This record gives sequence, C-alpha cells and structure tokens, in this order.
Amino acid sequence: MADELDELISQAIDAIQSAPDVRRLHDIKVYYLGKKGQFTLRLKTLAKRTADEQRVYGKKLNAVKADLARHIHQRKEQLDALLVQQRIADETIDVTLPVMDDPLAYGGSHPVIHLLGEMESLFASIGFDSIFSPEIESDYYNFAALNMPPHHPARAMHDSFYLDPTTVLRTHTSPAQVRAMETQPLPLRILSTGRVYRRDSDLTHTPMFHQVEGLWIDQQIAFCDLKGLLTEFVHILLKDRQLKTRFRPSYFPFTEPSAEMDIACPQCAQKKCRLCGYSGWIEVLGCGMVNPNVLQISGIDSHTYTGFAFGLGVERLAMLRYGVSDLRQFFDNDLRFLAQCRS
Ligand code: DAH
Repeated sequence: MADELDELISQAIDAIQSAPDVRRLHDIKVYYLGKKGQFTLRLKTLAKRTADEQRVYGKKLNAVKADLARHIHQRKEQLDALLVQQRIADETIDVTLPVMDDPLAYGGSHPVIHLLGEMESLFASIGFDSIFSPEIESDYYNFAALNMPPHHPARAMHDSFYLDPTTVLRTHTSPAQVRAMETQPLPLRILSTGRVYRRDSDLTHTPMFHQVEGLWIDQQIAFCDLKGLLTEFVHILLKDRQLKTRFRPSYFPFTEPSAEMDIACPQCAQKKCRLCGYSGWIEVLGCGMVNPNVLQISGIDSHTYTGFAFGLGVERLAMLRYGVSDLRQFFDNDLRFLAQCRS
C-alpha cells in the first residue's frame, strides 16, 4: 500500500505542475482531493484496516492532502501570473514596427501621378479645365495641325512610334491644343496631361513619359501673361518663392515667338554641377505665343485672338521636386523609393 500511495502522490504532483491552465488544474484537484477523489477514497477505506495501519496511513494521507493543496495553490498563482503577462503582451502596440512592413498598409499614388494631380488642381484654381486627349493620335493632330506639314524637319526630332503611315502614338500632348480649339468656346483655358511616347531610351529618356500641356486663348493675351503665370507656377510647384527663372529664345513650329523656361539649378545653386551640365540652369518647359497659323488651321480668327501655350515633362519636374537623380527609378516599382515621394 505504501508503494502504491507514493506512486499516486508523484503522479498527482506531476499532473499539478504541468496543468496548462486554471480549468485543468481544477479538474486535477477534484480528481485527487474531491469528495470522491483518489486520496479521499483511500481515507474512507482506512476503517477496514488495523489500528496501527490507521494511525500510520491516516497521518500520512492527511499530510499528503495538505501538501497537494499547497502545490495546487502555487500552480494557480503561477498560472494567474502567466495569464497577466500574456494579456500585457497581447495588448502592447509595438511602435517600432516599420510602417512599410505592415501588410495592411494603404497604397498611394505614384509620385508622377501625384504631381500631375497637384498641377491640375493648381491650374484649376485659376480657371483651367482639364481635358482628355487620346494617346493614339492621327498624323494630323500630332503634327500637321501644329504647323508641321509632311516633310517638316521638326518631325524628325520626335522619333515616333507609327502604328500605320498616318497613325502614331502621340509624341507630345500638344495635339490636345488643337482638339480644344476645335471644340471649346472662346475664350478658353485648358490643361491636358498624360502619357507620350518617343523612340528614346537612355539615362535621361524613357520611351514613355508624362507631359502636361496648357493653352490660354483670349483677346489681348500677351507674352507677359505667359511669363507671369509660368513663373508663379514653378515657384509654387517647387516650393521656392525665390527660385530664379529665365526665358530663353527657342523654336517650336506651333508657337511664335517660342521660348524655353529654365530654373536656377537647385542642386548646386548655380555653382555649376553635373545635373545642370555645368551651366547653372535647368530647362523645365517649352512655351510660346500660339502661332497664328495654328489658330487659323483650327478656325480661330488670329486677328481677334491671341494665346499662349506651354508643355512640360512631368518626370523631369518630379526629379527636381523630390531630388531624384535617376529617371528610371520612377519606373522600377520599388516601393521603398516610391513611398518616399508623396508630398
Ligand atoms: N510639345 C513640345 C515638346 O514635346 C513642348 C511644347 C513646347 C509645348 C512649346 C508647347 C509649347 O505647348 O508652346 O517638345
């Protein structure tokens, strides 16, 4: 009987110490110490034993019961403490987690699209309507109506992708000017943004890029309106009110006079660096007064109306705005890069 009792005691202690939770611990207590528990039953059967046995085992059984109750109490305290620790761990927010690893992180617009939206709302605030113009364009809208008849040498600069002899992936957003002049009532102010395509691919050119086209036609529009508006625009977009700008004479078949607008190189503050080709200036857009031929082709009386137009490459401006040195990063789809250019 002594061996059997020792065996039962060590079994009970093992069970108590490995009880995984408070409920299981309670079951173990009932099994060993409850009214019909293993040790209680043995106490009850003592009556059938000799007086000596009753004395020895009775004393031992009572001591065992007290000992087990103490083990149970200790295990309960351990389990309660574990429960509290578990709850604290569950409720703690780990503020050190990098946001970008969050599988539920919201996406955002691509930096180029973000900038396009910003330009659209900027121009909308001074009355420019955003209009759509197709990416697959006819020779007429892409070239001829912009004062570039067949064999005009300016066509060669565009290195186009032709779909058939008279259809092309637009090489610039300027066709939107013609479409606006054909359909919108005068005076008009429009902005058109989107993808354009050229057979160009190197460090600073991609075969597809984004442009923004603007056109303002009214009576008595002059070159000073163009200068004032575009200077203000660049100051706001690049967040630098003091940024120096200059207008340099240039040539575009659809404007006369034509100019290119440069900004003082933001990287070297005009001390001359690689970014600005050691000139201190960076070209940001092309512009000019709409060529009277272009107005006439679209049926607008060039004696009554004048206007100005401008076109710019968005990736170029995005590089300046976000301090990016390699144009191709915008198309590499690396979220670590893209997520940094959002404001
Ligand atoms: N379309 C020209 C280009 O892609 C940019 C341009 C220059 C647009 C002068 C204009 C402009 O509207 O007036 O190179």
